[in-house]
Amino acid sequence: MSENLLEIRNLHVTYKTDDDEIFALNGVDLKVKKGETLGLVGETGAGKTTMALSIMRLLPDRVGFIKQGEILLEDMNLIKVTEADMRLMRGQDVSMIFQDPMTSLNPIHTVGHQIAEVLFLHHPNAAANEIEQKVDDMMEMVGIPSDRKAEYPHQFSGGMKQRIVIAIALACNPKLLLADEPTTALDVTIQAQVLKMMNDLKDSFNASMILITHDLGVVAQICDSVAIMYAGEIIEVGSAVDIFESESHHPYTVGLFGAIPDMTKKTRRLNPIDGLMPDPTSLPLGCRFAERCPRREDICASERPSVMQMSATHGIKCHLFKRGDERATA
Ligand SMILES: Nc1ncnc2c1ncn2[C@@H]1O[C@H](COP(=O)(O)OP(=O)(O)OP(=O)(O)O)[C@@H](O)[C@H]1O
Ligand SMILES: [Mg+2]
Repeated sequence: MSENLLEIRNLHVTYKTDDDEIFALNGVDLKVKKGETLGLVGETGAGKTTMALSIMRLLPDRVGFIKQGEILLEDMNLIKVTEADMRLMRGQDVSMIFQDPMTSLNPIHTVGHQIAEVLFLHHPNAAANEIEQKVDDMMEMVGIPSDRKAEYPHQFSGGMKQRIVIAIALACNPKLLLADEPTTALDVTIQAQVLKMMNDLKDSFNASMILITHDLGVVAQICDSVAIMYAGEIIEVGSAVDIFESESHHPYTVGLFGAIPDMTKKTRRLNPIDGLMPDPTSLPLGCRFAERCPRREDICASERPSVMQMSATHGIKCHLFKRGDERATA
């Protein structure tokens, strides 16, 4: 059996607006191993949420389109799965935690009811008392006393609401958890707790996770591997050690991480880089980062770079490395 739980190949996604087509994902390739946590980073508009929504098959109807590519979850191509089957796979095979817990919680139902609902969906023949017991277990597992299950979302704090969302996401023991900036809406002191809890639970369920975050400290602490996204492409991917300790990086990574990445430094946000991402309705011909790149050369404007493998785990999409110049330091 393959060691990869998820493999995305050449994924292209567009959004159609009244008069434009937005090229949100432009040939994403990515692998997630069983049991691993992959950190997905990149500036706003890079396509991170689009990638998660594509895996969930939750792109907005009649607006977002998967144009090309494959999303293989244990060899099953999610793009080809029927909507009815996909509904069953959500929660059980792949679950998503959104940035704002209120996106996922229904204000008019008790939290216990909402956890029970997903359990019933996936275990329609289970006895009511079994489901109740599982609801209690899930609440206790995320650190909320189960006797509060009859309360409504507004009766909980932000951190508690996000814990309930995590309980719902994990209730059916998914193989893959997609967490889209799951703690950004929370207090800084609660963020670390919730993240650690989520990662421990993910380990105990033997699941894999894609964690979308702007926080490099979180990436360094939690992630086994890291993918860096720019204008709808993964421009660098590697193990956490490759990303934080190797000397070779995509010039975009160097800028984003603030010169020399360091795993031991205190929590840090990604650095803003001068300039803007290219207009997603008309992308440049060559490398999409060329215009902002301090190391650009003539070829960068005309030819798109392909991935250069620095090692078995470390790949960089940049012309610099074609010539064997491995020291793309700022
Ligand atoms: N519903 C939509 N309709 C039209 N364009 C969209 C839609 N959703 C996203 N986009 C566009 O697709 C591109 C990728 O957006 P996406 O939300 O995936 O970025 P992101 O990396 O998650 O950013 P952020 O860090 O801000 O959450 C952007 O150019 C965005 O404007
Ligand atoms: Mg997003």
